[in-house]
Amino acid sequence: MIAFFDSGLGGLSVWKTYYQQVPEQSMLYFADQKYIPYGSKTKEELLDRAIKITDFLISKGATIIVVACNTATAAVIKLLREKYAIPFVGMEPAIKPAAMSSKTKTIGVLATEGTFSGELFQQTKEKFTKGVNVIIQPGYGMVELVEEGLMRTPKAKELLMPLVHPMLKENVDHIVLGCTHYPFLKEDIQEIVGKNVELIDPSPAVVKQIIRLMPELVLDKAAKYQFYTSSSDLKSFQNGVEKLIGQNTNVDYQSFDL
Ligand code: DGL
Repeated sequence: MIAFFDSGLGGLSVWKTYYQQVPEQSMLYFADQKYIPYGSKTKEELLDRAIKITDFLISKGATIIVVACNTATAAVIKLLREKYAIPFVGMEPAIKPAAMSSKTKTIGVLATEGTFSGELFQQTKEKFTKGVNVIIQPGYGMVELVEEGLMRTPKAKELLMPLVHPMLKENVDHIVLGCTHYPFLKEDIQEIVGKNVELIDPSPAVVKQIIRLMPELVLDKAAKYQFYTSSSDLKSFQNGVEKLIGQNTNVDYQSFDL
């Protein structure tokens, strides 16, 4: 049984990509909406949340867990791998492919402050971006836009403009979407930056890695998709999920405050 977790709805961008390739597999998704955002939490707080969620998902049958959150991956995935015997797949900051294919030798990265201050980002940046100018920008307010379902609205455009404009001035030709919520704003961002800037969503690479790590794929025509939230507002959670991935059959929603 595969399970995904994130602070909220962002990890659905990873599951959506996975589902396009492996639709007939039952899945557990945990959105830690009571404790969102993760971007401003300490490592200790994130570890506490990650352990509670992991224990819960394992108790529900998870045998592989995707930390579908860049912030949590950066802060705690090493510790989770040390503590538990099951495999964990995390988010990679996709700055390597962006840096490699950049012609202007300038790339932009949008992510949370937590991701930027983590070792994983610093190490990846040092290792793979020699000779490339990396413009970093915390995506203030972007997680909230997605949680509130405000994609493709004037409010989204207004919030995104000042975040991406400075990158354009620096002549970036790639922008990495370094938080799992951000791919849901891809169209809004693309509209602002134009066709000449490529937006990089790390999910396809992460999904490849999940498939590589799956001990065996148990496919089932009657696959069930179970969505949990730590928030008590189950109705908004369901609306939020449906807005991002559409309505599906064999879906169940439950609220669990861990
Ligand atoms: N979706 C998250 C990430 O990939 C976390 C966003 C947040 O809660 O701040 O970083």
